[in-house]
Amino acid sequence: MEFADIHIHALSGVDDGARTEDEMYSMIDKAYRSGTRVICFTPHCAPKYFGFNGDKINKSFRKAAKYVQRQYPDTQVYLGNELQYAREFSSWIKSGECRTLNDTRYLLVDFPLNEEKEAIVRGVRSVLSTGYQPILAHVERYTHLNKDLKTIYELKSDGALLQMDSQSPVGGFGFFVKLASRRILKEGLIDLISSDAHGVGDRTPDLSAAYKYVLDQYGDSRAERLFAANALKILKGKDIREEF
Ligand SMILES: [Fe+2]
Repeated sequence: MEFADIHIHALSGVDDGARTEDEMYSMIDKAYRSGTRVICFTPHCAPKYFGFNGDKINKSFRKAAKYVQRQYPDTQVYLGNELQYAREFSSWIKSGECRTLNDTRYLLVDFPLNEEKEAIVRGVRSVLSTGYQPILAHVERYTHLNKDLKTIYELKSDGALLQMDSQSPVGGFGFFVKLASRRILKEGLIDLISSDAHGVGDRTPDLSAAYKYVLDQYGDSRAERLFAANALKILKGKDIREEF
């Protein structure tokens, strides 16, 4: 199985992901070894925490792309951001400070993990109202949302797509997140699973344990959709929504 990972903090020196160039290359090596063949780098776009890091990101991306081309010519790389929702987000996109995924209409958006669920719903709706297609990052990790299936259904029927972190269903964020994520998966609410990797020690780019879980529980075609097919469509700007 060849994975497509479209949520990963592997670019170095731009956020709280890879700290050094060496670590960036190690993350890419690890992703490749575990079967990933498409990577969309998504450093945080959160000026409050990391400043406006667009230039640094471009520089780091060029190095990463060169490395991948040399070491792993059968792998494709793309660029995006994980936007921490703020009212000004569309002006940041227009000015180039923040990117959608591979310049499509798909926008990976996250919130503080302890954000009130009403604020998450409002933020997602405001992204929808500007014509971007929000992908809510790691829906299973928001403390005030992850047990509330009704609100998660609502987000979906509003038009949001939902991403899950690969660590969640296999216990990497603890028992309660594991439970919540498995429940959300069971309801068929998840559109894609990505690593959200930040290094090579703890939150790594290795998707294989989560893939094995989904494959065992839900079979081939669902696993293929969540770990590759939907991400590839997103990067091409194609529609992935089924009737919901
Ligand atoms: Fe992330």
